[in-house]
Formats: sequence, structure tokens, C-alpha cells
Amino acid sequence: MCGIVGYTGKRCARDILIEGLKRLEYRGYDSSGIAVRGPGGITCTRSVGRIADLEKQIAGIDLAGSVGIAHTRWATHGAPTQANAHPHTDCSANVYLVHNGVIENCDKLKAQLEQEGHTFTSETDTEVIAHLVEKYLEGDDLAAAVQQALKRIIGTFGIAVMCRQCPDTIVVARNGSPIVIGVGDDEYYVASDVSALVEHTRQIIYLDDNEIAILKPDGFRSLTIDNVPTTKKVTEVDWDIEMIGLNNFDTFMAKEIHEQPETVRAAFRGRLYREQCEVRLGGLMDLGDTFLDARRIIISACGTAWHSALIGECMIEDIARVPVEVEYASEFRYRNPIIEPGTIVLVISQSGETADTLAALNEAKRRGVPVLAISNVVGSTIARESDAGVYIHAGPEIGVASTKAFTSQMVVLYLISLMLGRARGVGAAEGIKMIQALENIPDQISKVLEVESQVQHLAEKYYRKAENSLFLGRGYSFPIALEGALKLKEISYVHAEGYPAAEMKHGPIALITPDMPVVFIAVQDSIYDKILVNMKEVKARGGKVIAIATEGDALINNIADDVVYVPDAPEPLTPLLTVVPLQLLAYHVATMKGCDVDKPRNLAKSVTVE
Ligand code: F6R
Repeated sequence: MCGIVGYTGKRCARDILIEGLKRLEYRGYDSSGIAVRGPGGITCTRSVGRIADLEKQIAGIDLAGSVGIAHTRWATHGAPTQANAHPHTDCSANVYLVHNGVIENCDKLKAQLEQEGHTFTSETDTEVIAHLVEKYLEGDDLAAAVQQALKRIIGTFGIAVMCRQCPDTIVVARNGSPIVIGVGDDEYYVASDVSALVEHTRQIIYLDDNEIAILKPDGFRSLTIDNVPTTKKVTEVDWDIEMIGLNNFDTFMAKEIHEQPETVRAAFRGRLYREQCEVRLGGLMDLGDTFLDARRIIISACGTAWHSALIGECMIEDIARVPVEVEYASEFRYRNPIIEPGTIVLVISQSGETADTLAALNEAKRRGVPVLAISNVVGSTIARESDAGVYIHAGPEIGVASTKAFTSQMVVLYLISLMLGRARGVGAAEGIKMIQALENIPDQISKVLEVESQVQHLAEKYYRKAENSLFLGRGYSFPIALEGALKLKEISYVHAEGYPAAEMKHGPIALITPDMPVVFIAVQDSIYDKILVNMKEVKARGGKVIAIATEGDALINNIADDVVYVPDAPEPLTPLLTVVPLQLLAYHVATMKGCDVDKPRNLAKSVTVE
């Protein structure tokens, strides 16, 4: 949420910063700004709207210089206006600062600073930090001023700061909001996300909470906010520029939907040992028996990752017979849950930075139980703070609506179920069958992707006028109904609800009209017969039914108005197939309506605020 970029070196900062902002635009896109240090001082420009609007605005401005910071915003304090866009500055336009996170005590600090004579020009919490740095700045010791300022702050921050007295210096700091440093040749890059850096360097330093770093072209130094020097490791990331490009697709969401055969394969590659009929997840090995002997698992996550948690609950209980509970991270963190010894908490997060999921992780750690994480972004806060973890290896997910991360999360949950199951009585023969079924999934997803033109036609047929839609499923298909509804509403703004199909008659059935498409996920699983009954209940009330069904099911054709077929698979793996037509449906409804699918209204990737 919000993106930060910075550069100090010998090259044109403006181009690097604008390119970086474009890469980070998916993290926030309501306003943006740039400040560059040139021969005449620091020039700062801010704009409402997309990065393209900022580019237009700076077209006629001299932004020559090789040091600068920039920001793309997702508003928290104050509307998306030019005055609220970052960088923010102090009373004398000396200090320039960009910030991600939330300053909880900003009102109190602002009142104190105003009493001391500081004048504020925005409604943001961020501006408070700029004035605090101004207050503490003595001579050219920017780092000391930043340290003093941050000691006054309660809340989360990832910041990059520059000032007139320090011509080639950027000071960065973090607490709860990521800051990564890219190491080049006599140059340093800063970003809130590795994807902004990989076209320049793959040598990355991850800043830790309560740490600051002072970057100059000829070197960098890191310290804690309390001034204790720290030692940083340079890590090589394996993302490359190909992975963050569109590669002939119109949108990242389309690209990511179509990448799923490969990303799903990457999630199990090298982790299956057919001969021993075993799954090995390196990240969990250190936990050994603590993991295998877990008496209860609590899975906590948000949004789409929460839906994968619900699938995980079905898988782990079915396959390994370990009791599982699924909790919204935002609820878990503020409840008083009962967590007995023998419990393991598993958090799931694509970005690894979601504030509520991180808080759930910390709450579980505070209560002394082991925390495992399933995440995508290597080196993310959640990956680093957990006791053990498994990466899904889906590559960068840039479309704001999560697609490929969801299917990969389900693969890892399946692997965990099999691992736990093998330790608890799942026999070798059954294990082999489960492995084979998983290995078939990438090709089966490729087959499902062939229904795209049919789904596009359904989007036209049903959603030109529809303002509402229901998604219904049972068992493993219930979380997929939730996910289908979430995808549709978040990118096309068609109101959609997911329900367990049998719950429909307890209320939502009142909504059925011929104008409201009802999508049933109705594969031939253990409760197939029951869902046909629910489908008939909708038809009896004049509803229009789109069914996602198993290839070869002729019966369902007589009930549903339209049927999209997916290949047959064992029940725990069907969600990996049934979700794909629903991703495509949301995508085509949204594009038909002219929506920006990669950057939906009001949303942003990586929700780093509560
Ligand atoms: C929906 C979506 C969000 C995320 C949620 C959690 O398409 O992308 O609901 O799933 O914000 O994000 P992560 O997985 O990064 O913790």
C-alpha cells in the first residue's frame, strides 16, 4: 500500500524514479510525487491521479539531478489531493520525505508542533515526520534528526528522507512497512518492494524494523533508531525483468491467470518424492515433530488468502484428520482466542506484508506457539518473522486481484496435508495417488483455460445489465464460491455474494430474479446430488444458472442454463480447477464494463494498514 522509490548515484534520478513508480503503481494509485536534488536545490512536484498524470506534470520542469525520492499514494489521512500527495516537506522546504504506514499519535504531535510555530499544509500524518526532522536537524546530521524524530512516533513507517544540507544522501528507516535497498555500482536504490529494483540490480538489502540506513553513492551505513550500528547481508533475489513485464498480455491479471499451469507446478516442483511417497517442505524441516505432532492448527489470513485457508481447513481435516480452525487475521488479533499447547498457527499471505496478518502472527508468537507462514514474496516481513515457512514461488503478482497466488497457496496446503497425513496413517499407495493427481493439475488447468472464449460469451450474455450475482457451492466448492464473488465484485463492481449453496434458502433466495445470474460450482463430488437440488430451487424461481461442472456430466445440462466444464480430479484438488473459470468470468465482465482490472477502484496491492 503506497510505493516508495529512491536513488542516489550518478545517473538521471528522475527516469529511475518514474520507472520505479510505474512498477509500484499497483501498491497505490490515487496520487504521486517526486523530489530530485539538482544543482539549484531540491525540486518537488506532486500530482493527483496516476503516474501518467505526474509524468505529464513534470514534462516541462527541469528535474535534472542524480539523487531523489518518489511516492505513489493510497490515501489514509486526507483525500487524494495534490497537497496530501508525497513528498512532504517542512516549514522551510528543506527536508523532503516520503512515507508508507500510519502515525498513530500524529494529532498530538501536530498540535505540539503547531504550538512551537510549525505550519502544516496537508491533512496527512506524514507531514508530522518532516516537521519533527526539521525540529531536530542540526547542521548536516540528517540521520540523527531522523532518529530523534522517529523516537517520538507511535505507529508504522517505511520512510525515505533527503534535505538540502546533504546533497547526495538519502536516509531510510522502517518499522512495520518494508524498505529494501538495491546495491548498484557506486549507487544505491531504495524501494518499498523489490519489483521496483530488479531492472537495475538483484543485490538487495532488507532493512529490519527499528533500523535506519544512510545511503550515499560511495557507501551505506545502517544503525538502529537507538544508534547501535548493525550489519546487513546482501541477498541476491531470483526475480528478473521478464517476470515483472506484461509479456504480450494486455493486463497483469490476464497474464497471471494464464501463468497458473506454470506457477502451480512451481509450487510443488522439487517437493515431491515419489519413491518414498513423501512431501518435503524444506522450510518446515527445522520444526520437525512439533509440526508433525500438531494437535490443532489455526490458519489466519485476509481476503483471497483467507479463502485458501478455508480450502486448507477442508484438506487438512480430510487428509490428515488434524482439527483446523480458520480465522480472519483482523479478528484473531483482537479476540482472546484459546491457544493450547500443541497448537500451531499458520498464516497465509501473498505479499507477506499484510498488516492484520502480521499482527495475527505476532499475537500467536506472544502466546508462545510456533507460527508457520505460507507466503510468496521472498524476504517479506511475514516470511522473516515466522518460525518456519513455505514459499509458494508464484513469482511477482502485480494485478491487484490475487489469482495465481491463490492456486499456489492451495497447492502448498495440499502438500502440508499430505505431509501431515503420511505421518498419521495415510498409506504409501494412497499417497502416490495423491501425488499423481497433483502432478496432473497443471495440464488440467491449461485445459480449463481453453474455456476462455465461452466464459467471455457468458460475461456478455449475463452481465451487461446484471448489478448483482450469487455464487454458490458446498464443501470444497464453498470457498470457491466466496472467491468467485470476491473476484467479480472487486474488479467489475458488480455486487456479488458467495454462500454455501444450502444456506440460500435461509435468506438469499429472496433475491432470485431472472436478471440475477447465479453461479453454481457443482462438480461431481461427494455432495453433488445435494447441489443439484439447490440448483433446481433456483430454477423453480425463474433464476438463471451458470454451472461449473465436471467434464462429461450431461445431467447438469438439463438443469443449468449454461455449463462450463472442468476436468475430473480428486475432490481436494477440484478448487484448483473450478476457480479458473471464475477468475476469467470476473476478468471479462470487468473488461466488458471498461474497468481497470489491474488497478480497481479504491484498492491497492499489499494492505499494510489495519
Ligand atoms: C483479493 C486480494 C486481497 C488479498 C488480501 C490479502 O483479490 O488480493 O483480498 O488476498 O489483501 O493479501 P496478502 O495475501 O498479500 O496477505
